[in-house]
Amino acid sequence: MPVNAERTVCLCGRGLTKVFGLGRQTVTAVDHVDFDFYDGELVSIVGESGSGKTTLAKMLLGLLSKTEGEIHFHGQPLDLSTAKKRRKYWKGIQAIFQDPFSSYNIFNKIDTVLLDCIRMRGGKNLKMEEKIALMTEALAFVNLKYEEMTNKYPFELSGGQMQRLMIARIFLLKPKILLADEPTSMIDACSRATILDMLLKLRDETNMTIIFITHDIGLAYHISDTVYIMEKGKFVEHGTADEVILNPQAEYTRRLINDVPKLNETWDLSTVG
Ligand SMILES: Nc1ncnc2c1ncn2[C@@H]1O[C@H](COP(=O)(O)OP(=O)(O)OP(=O)(O)O)[C@@H](O)[C@H]1O
Ligand SMILES: [Mg+2]
Repeated sequence: MPVNAERTVCLCGRGLTKVFGLGRQTVTAVDHVDFDFYDGELVSIVGESGSGKTTLAKMLLGLLSKTEGEIHFHGQPLDLSTAKKRRKYWKGIQAIFQDPFSSYNIFNKIDTVLLDCIRMRGGKNLKMEEKIALMTEALAFVNLKYEEMTNKYPFELSGGQMQRLMIARIFLLKPKILLADEPTSMIDACSRATILDMLLKLRDETNMTIIFITHDIGLAYHISDTVYIMEKGKFVEHGTADEVILNPQAEYTRRLINDVPKLNETWDLSTVG
């Protein structure tokens, strides 16, 4: 994104906090985080296991209530108090999760999954040929063939194909924001590169904001405009990918960077164990 381009904040958080449990048994999973995510930006949230990434994602999606703080969506305080408001919000924000197997209703065929998306985008009254044309286009976007997918169930696909089907759904739904919570951690390296390419292509073609959650700082550097580093529920640093990774300020960020194995270095196993 050009540095001096007019930038609009699509999602903003102030003092956002989630505390699980009651009394002495509490865990502050997300601890007063502030953020501004802009239209069309690819933002990565990077942190180790347990740092609060998924908890934050679930609050952003309205799947988990917040303990404290505020979320604004396009300048308006997020209000999900009624089913109608939630439905409207979910047209604007969609998610892809780590485990593609859990993302589908096992009784729905692939056609049903995609037709639901077309219906949600107001295409209920289109002719069947038009719906098939849309499904074919969405599947072609992720290198899947409609003829090979029709009448199949998602569980008949490989993990990588299932994640691609998730992206085909996003292609049809065209949300303003896509939240991707470690979407590539359960698939092989080759499928992973394909999925990342598709996410980048989706962003370029639709100006979607992508919030990419990962523990992999090397991957975040590779794909992101902006990086937020999360440690124990707090954002310890954020900035452009270059600023954060080439010139890290927080000790925690330096540690994450040092933990990345370098492919051209010989493994030193003397320190293991
Ligand atoms: N429903 C829950 N009830 C109680 N504690 C929870 C709940 N969900 C998460 N936690 C705790 O909140 C903290 C943050 O968890 P979270 O799943 O957000 O981390 P994460 O950064 O997504 O980790 P990972 O990289 O392993 O996915 C952890 O200490 C976790 O045990
Ligand atoms: Mg998680």
